[in-house]
Formats: sequence, structure tokens, C-alpha cells
Amino acid sequence: MTAGSISQTQPPGLLGDTPARDYVRKLQLFHSFAEPELRRAVAGLELTPGARVLDAGCGSGAALEWFAAAVGAHGLAVGIDLATAHVAAARAAAPRGCPVLQADLLHMPLAPASFDLVWSVNTVNHLRDPCAGVQRLAALLRPGGRLALGQSSLLPDMYFAWDARLERVVNEAVRHYYRDRYGLQERELTAVRGLAGLLRAARLRDVAVRTFTIERLTPLRAADEAYLLDAIFRGTWGGGEKLRPYLCDDDYEELGSLCDPGDRRYALRRADFHFLQTFTLAVAGRGAGT
Ligand SMILES: C[S@@+](CC[C@H](N)C(=O)[O-])C[C@H]1O[C@@H](n2cnc3c(N)ncnc32)[C@H](O)[C@@H]1O
Repeated sequence: MTAGSISQTQPPGLLGDTPARDYVRKLQLFHSFAEPELRRAVAGLELTPGARVLDAGCGSGAALEWFAAAVGAHGLAVGIDLATAHVAAARAAAPRGCPVLQADLLHMPLAPASFDLVWSVNTVNHLRDPCAGVQRLAALLRPGGRLALGQSSLLPDMYFAWDARLERVVNEAVRHYYRDRYGLQERELTAVRGLAGLLRAARLRDVAVRTFTIERLTPLRAADEAYLLDAIFRGTWGGGEKLRPYLCDDDYEELGSLCDPGDRRYALRRADFHFLQTFTLAVAGRGAGT
């Protein structure tokens, strides 16, 4: 591995990522919440002892432990991330012998053709040029190596099983909020749906996709309630406040109640609460002779 460098003057990524950005808590909440399904996705890759794995955009580093366990003492698991706070959290979470580098994956400080698996979850949708990013990741594969791109929510999440209309206007409000916050059109926000095309454009073979459903009912596990309440209801939606400019008064008032644990209408204690989210893994390989 060669030393990497981070330019502080690069423009922020599509969704505002910079070395100074910090959303560690949201990443930790997501991993605790989706751990069962993410572990199934990792297990399905059937990693063998001795393999070399890179987690590109490793965030808080929760998956590094799973990779280190799968590849054993003779293998290698490496994390890489742009954000200083995320790298610090990943270093704290990573097992011994598992390096975490701070670098921009578009300017990777790693030798080409050196990994058996590159895993990158919810990260290429943060790049201004995902095609270039996927090509950089593909270049890191040894002959016969695989690139696995994971992406949440290619289908809309179901939050309010009892009210499809409210859910639709909330989803639309979130889209408008992101458009105004990051100056992005819907087409730019959803370009990542073309995961298979990104893998093919990087000249990888045997593209395969698998979608896992993340499905939860009340009573929720503590990790599920923490993610939905803290990361989504309070974080992404600001308890409804962030979406206020995009909702009518009645919808805003109802959303606030559904997000409020002190309100009798709090969504996460309803008997009919049923949450659905998808996690899609698109995998492709570098030919053994290339
Ligand atoms: C939504 S998070 C996903 C993190 C992690 N893969 C997970 O599933 O929890 C996206 C991550 O990509 C990182 N990131 C964004 N742009 C990057 C870039 N150009 N190079 C390296 N990491 C980047 C961010 O700092 C963040 O940690």
C-alpha cells in the first residue's frame, strides 16, 4: 500500500461529502439496524480464508470485523474513507491488523490488481462521477476478483403501512428537500439505480443482482427503533421540521405526531407499524485472464 493524500480543496461530493463531514452516528445506527441483512449479503459472497478485501467508503467501519473474520489471519481486510470522523470511528471499530486509510476513492492510494473483493455500500451514489469511481474500484481487482456494490432503497421505503398517501407526500417532500439542499434534480439523485450498467461500463463480467428485504414489525428491537427514530424521523426529517416547506399544514402536523415518542399517535408503537426497505447488492467479476 502506498500513502494517500486528501485535498481539502476538492469540491464536495454529490451529497455534500468532504473530509470534514461527520455523520458517524447515523452510520452506526444504520449498521446496528440492518446488521442481520448485511451479514446475509456478506455471507452470500462466500469469501475464502486468505482473501484480500477492501471496503471502499467504509464509513464507521462496522463491516470490517465481518470481513476480517471471513478471511482469517492469512487474509486482509482494509477500509478506506474520505471523512476524518468516519475514519476515526472505523479505526476504533476495526479489529487488529485491519488498516483504515483516509483517502478519496477517486484518487486511491492502493496498488492496482491487489484485491479479491471490493465491497462498496451506499457510497458510489455520493460521487459526482460514479462511473469513474466504479472504474477505479474495478482496477483494484485481481484477475478473478469481484466488485460488490450495495445500495439501499432502490424501491421506496414503507414507513406508514396504514397511509400510502401520507408516505407518498413525505417521500416527495424528502426529494424536494434534497433538491434544495444539494441543488440536485431527481434524475441525478436516482442515477445510482443503474448499478448493473456501472459494473458493465467498468468492463466487469457476470453481473448479478440480489435484493434483500429489511422488514420490521412492532414491537421493534432497540436497534430498529433507534435507527428509525434518531436517524430518520429526527435526522433526515428533523421531526417533520425539515420537510415543513414541502408539506401542507395537516400533513406536517400529522407527521410531527407520528415522529414524536411522546405523542399517542407515535408510529413506532402502533400495532400496524410495518417497515419495509430494500438493500440491493450488484456483483460482477474481473475475468481470470484479464
Ligand atoms: C452513506 S455512507 C456509507 C458508509 C458505509 N459504506 C455504510 O454502509 O455504512 C458513504 C460513505 O462514503 C464516504 N465517501 C463519500 N465520498 C467518498 C470518496 N470520494 N472517497 C472515499 N469515501 C467517500 C463518506 O465519507 C461515507 O462514509
